[in-house]
Amino acid sequence: MENSRDLPLLPALSDVLARQIGLHFPPERWPELLRGLQGMARELHFSTLPDYFAQLLSQPLTRQQIEILARHLTIGETYFFREPQVFEALQCHVLPALIEERRQSTRQLRLWSAGCSTGEEAYSLAILLHRMIPDIAEWNITVLGTDINPQALEKAAAGIYGEWSFRGAPPWLRERYFRHAGKNLYEIIPAVRNMVMFAYLNLADDTYPSPAGNTGAMDIVFCRNVLMYFEPEMAARVVEKHYRALVKNGWLAVSPSEISQTSFARFVPAYLPGAILHQKSSPPPKPEQPAVTISAKVVEAIRPKLPKTIRPTAVATAQKIDVAALLLTARTHANRGELPAAQELCQRAVATDRLNPLGHYLLGAILQELGRSAEAALAHKRTLYLDPEFVLAHFALGNIYRDQHQPHVAAKHFDNALLILEKQREDDLLPESDGLTSGRLMEIIRSGTRKEDKAA
Ligand SMILES: C[S@@+](CC[C@H](N)C(=O)[O-])C[C@H]1O[C@@H](n2cnc3c(N)ncnc32)[C@H](O)[C@@H]1O
Repeated sequence: MENSRDLPLLPALSDVLARQIGLHFPPERWPELLRGLQGMARELHFSTLPDYFAQLLSQPLTRQQIEILARHLTIGETYFFREPQVFEALQCHVLPALIEERRQSTRQLRLWSAGCSTGEEAYSLAILLHRMIPDIAEWNITVLGTDINPQALEKAAAGIYGEWSFRGAPPWLRERYFRHAGKNLYEIIPAVRNMVMFAYLNLADDTYPSPAGNTGAMDIVFCRNVLMYFEPEMAARVVEKHYRALVKNGWLAVSPSEISQTSFARFVPAYLPGAILHQKSSPPPKPEQPAVTISAKVVEAIRPKLPKTIRPTAVATAQKIDVAALLLTARTHANRGELPAAQELCQRAVATDRLNPLGHYLLGAILQELGRSAEAALAHKRTLYLDPEFVLAHFALGNIYRDQHQPHVAAKHFDNALLILEKQREDDLLPESDGLTSGRLMEIIRSGTRKEDKAA
């Protein structure tokens, strides 16, 4: 067995792990890292550890390598209503007002368990909402669970748990929300199962928040017992991305032990009994200004960023540039979770230039986040009418029809998306997707349709 001193590539490898997965292995943890890597090298039939290292360092890690490393080097420990004070704080101090506010407006709530492991945390959040909202069937609820470990995600999607996942949980949990699924096994009831979606997401990536990944405009993000394993700089970047993923006044929960390690400077701490939550602070009020004013300098700066469909030619009209500026501003509002403002700007852009597919697409994405699926579908159809190859519009329509239990129409749109994507290179970045590549979108579509085939 090699010793960490005999492996000159170990510092380079721990650097790669920090950058691409977030995991922090300072020298004092190298013996532990080495043990994990030795297990992996054996599993993958490498004759020596340096051979395995050489392969890992030869090029950026592939998704498969990341999954294997994450499976061996991370800890997936979790259980229902872990650190119950945080759930009590939500139940008593955060959710009552939030539910009341939404009852008067959109009847929509979006929660995210980031680093959800086998799903107990995401289901705990869904159960809490189910208990607090008697007419939940009338609401548009999203509970998203994401993780880097696909095996954990499969278990989460199956929703079947052993006794150990219920340690410390109150008796009503199993009685009311689970049914027997074999000896000492319990399956979550469909009413809660259907509230939760699981997806792969590497928190070290820059692909979130994004409407395409459904990771924007969140009301509450739980990212607990994940950042403690991260390299400090990466932990700070993840917190920043969660800040952007939240709506104004949204909430972030981390585990108590993570609070002292990471900076939450942009959040306002709320000291609740037994728990500290972080609230996204409202930005300072801006001076009154006309809705959109852009200088010639700004126009020049944004010109190269405009998608081909609306890139102004040498004789660009002021109208087209106005539309581009409206859409950029709409995007900024949408990313901040200010959906009504984003919607209004998109509508102005669409009214100014009805033939611009991007305007219809953004409007569709925003309406979808507002829970107005029928109008969103219409906007996406207009996008496709103007640009039949607008792959994200097919993807969005697939998701809308799947949620509306129209699997055949959904399948048609997913198939169309795949046909378009197959013509592209896997690492091509998709416009308007915040960094999503063609290959990644193909994986998302294929894994979603495989799951549906299994369920059918
Ligand atoms: C200890 S579990 C936490 C589960 C749950 N949040 C809780 O507090 O009970 C940590 C999870 O973080 C996941 N994880 C580690 N690095 C990750 C990354 N870069 N992106 C996404 N998930 C990651 C692991 O796969 C593991 O499932």
